[in-house]
Amino acid sequence: MLLSSIKINDQEFVELKDVIYRNSGIMFAENKKYLLENRLSKRLADLNFTTFKDYIYYLKYDIKKRQELDTLINLVTINETYFLRERGQLDYLVSNIVPDLIKAGKKSIKIWSAPCSTGEEPYSIAILLKNAGLFDKASIDIIATDINSEVVALAKKGEYRQASFRGVPADFMRNFDVQGQSYFIKDEIKRHVRFNTGNITTPTITSLIGKVDVIFCRNVLIYFDMDGKQRTIKNFHNMLTEPGYLCLGHSETLNKISEDFTMKNAGTCIIYMKKK
Ligand SMILES: C[S@@+](CC[C@H](N)C(=O)[O-])C[C@H]1O[C@@H](n2cnc3c(N)ncnc32)[C@H](O)[C@@H]1O
Repeated sequence: MLLSSIKINDQEFVELKDVIYRNSGIMFAENKKYLLENRLSKRLADLNFTTFKDYIYYLKYDIKKRQELDTLINLVTINETYFLRERGQLDYLVSNIVPDLIKAGKKSIKIWSAPCSTGEEPYSIAILLKNAGLFDKASIDIIATDINSEVVALAKKGEYRQASFRGVPADFMRNFDVQGQSYFIKDEIKRHVRFNTGNITTPTITSLIGKVDVIFCRNVLIYFDMDGKQRTIKNFHNMLTEPGYLCLGHSETLNKISEDFTMKNAGTCIIYMKKK
């Protein structure tokens, strides 16, 4: 049987996309039916299901439904990321945000990479902070979370392939130990980042993470609808200290989502600051 042969009908699509939406905030539009078919057909075949109806029943009633929900979310997220992605904000963090917080008397600083995918973003932050000597000037915690438990496990392992390095400067590679095709992040960088699973659209994330000074939430809001975006940004507003800094992806904006932040030109990029 060809894996792509399991088709999803309209009613099954609506039920499945609702389950995904309620548990992750990720919204599949009507024209993305084929995406669910492509991403989930192998899983159905592994479970010996020939229809999506059977799979939905399993998700709702089986004793393993909680685990299956995690597997489902892991299968539908898009985890594209790489080191030093959208570098302008990372440089601004190191040259302005953290030094300003230290100058203002902050002894401990918390930076949250939410969502972190396989870890390239929080490790990039740790590498740049270390190069700038900032870990010696304050106690800096980098917390990294993602809803996808598989990418969090990979991030904790810290093993990368060439594809994670796109045009990084040569000296960046000294932060890795090379073994065959693999690049392992060095322990001296790894120890600065704490990883956990977490869903940024739910209020429980606020107690899981606590107060933070800087949030990187890049390249995920694009997958949420307006309600999911607003719930997420409300969480961030509650969690940020003052002054609180929020970095979104280049193609993301708070326009029409929240009036609780002001936009700031930060060299080559934009960041948002929590309004008092
Ligand atoms: C495209 S990656 C972005 C990674 C990184 N921030 C970057 O810009 O390179 C998007 C990540 O968002 C995660 N994600 C999707 N919905 C989420 C949610 N509700 N809570 C936390 N993470 C989520 C996905 O698992 C995926 O790893």
